[in-house]
Amino acid sequence: MIHSQFGKKFSSSSSISLLMKDLNEGLRTPDVIMLGDGNPAHIPEMDQYFQQLLIDMAKSGQLNEALCNYDGPQGKDAMLQGLANTLNEQIGWNISAKNIALTNGSQSAFFYLFNILAGRCEQGIKRKVLFPLTPEYVGYTDTGLDDDIFVANKPQIDILPSGQFKYRINFGSLKITDDIGVICVSRPTNPTGNVITDEEMMQLDTLAKQHAIPLLIDSAYGIPFPGIIFNQATPIWNENIILSMSLSKLGLPGCRCGIIIANETIISAISNMNGIISLSPGSIGPALMQAILKRNDLLKLSQTVIKPFYQQRVTETIKIIRRYIPESRCLIHKPEGAIFLWLWFKNLPIDSQTLYSRLKKRGVLMVPGDYFFPGLNQYWPHAHQCMRMNYILPLEKIEQGIAILANEIEIAYQ
Ligand SMILES: Cc1ncc(COP(=O)(O)O)c(C=O)c1O
Repeated sequence: MIHSQFGKKFSSSSSISLLMKDLNEGLRTPDVIMLGDGNPAHIPEMDQYFQQLLIDMAKSGQLNEALCNYDGPQGKDAMLQGLANTLNEQIGWNISAKNIALTNGSQSAFFYLFNILAGRCEQGIKRKVLFPLTPEYVGYTDTGLDDDIFVANKPQIDILPSGQFKYRINFGSLKITDDIGVICVSRPTNPTGNVITDEEMMQLDTLAKQHAIPLLIDSAYGIPFPGIIFNQATPIWNENIILSMSLSKLGLPGCRCGIIIANETIISAISNMNGIISLSPGSIGPALMQAILKRNDLLKLSQTVIKPFYQQRVTETIKIIRRYIPESRCLIHKPEGAIFLWLWFKNLPIDSQTLYSRLKKRGVLMVPGDYFFPGLNQYWPHAHQCMRMNYILPLEKIEQGIAILANEIEIAYQ
């Protein structure tokens, strides 16, 4: 029944869709300690803010207006204009509404972009997406219409004090061959919480320009919003950069609203794809965003509510981990942003898949690290020694999960 190559590729169960099913089942099972998913935390102040906003919008008729009308294929005009104004005024960029397109979640934007910029091209060339720093976001893995469109570069690992480490881009081994169509990074990185430094970003920007290929920056957790970055980082954009953002980690994943800022050629391509695939992106997220922008609250909420919430939560979570698991057993990637901790069990006698299964049996879900190496086509032991956990649950729950993790680690060493 499913005839086409497209149909076969996208209807078969990929390893990630099986894992997502697992995690989703875990999410719906009340006793499971879910440290595996990427849902943002329910920050009480944000929940209240959104509730009041919806009430106000319902009263003023804005909600009805959004629900009962299609937007254009590029997204809600007034929101595009409002966002361009805010970014120009508050960050000093020089963009217009023509530089912004909306999609139904940034995930679908990556599907569009990777397949616009990589895959089989004219004259038999097959272009690829380069991840200059791996581990990278698992959600990129199966997005290519063609197979094998990703290549990845292993990082340099800096060992830091206090049982921490940090990945850095290994520019010495980074090869930008003629078949690379785009360079892509998530900043902060899901799964590691790494924030690629300003210097690294500048180097990538220069390399991308030299090779006449775009630099795609996935800022789902980053700057300018929702601003979940705990150290210094500068937001960058220019005509060669494609910046992806989202309303999800602001606390609105159900809106499915992704935001792409790019040159007009890319924006026009996304707008056309929106038209073909979904007529127009959904209107509710953009309507909410328009109202938030009008109140001048977007960057304020990011900096004064969202960032401090996650920063405090990660500090507390690390304290809990260290009460149960010594540095000799587990190194932690320096938490610089996003909503995850990346744990490295360097000498553990079992691999991360086995640890995942054992934890699952005991009602704790974390994600085994080996999923987060899209494009790395060689065996690398390090990839099988790490786990990703979120820190969105209440601290008591996190502590219960960590206690079980610590116990399973000790069992593995026996
Ligand atoms: C790094 C990164 N990029 C993109 C996405 C996609 O998010 P959304 O489609 O909700 O905008 C996610 C979701 O977790 C993510 O972690």
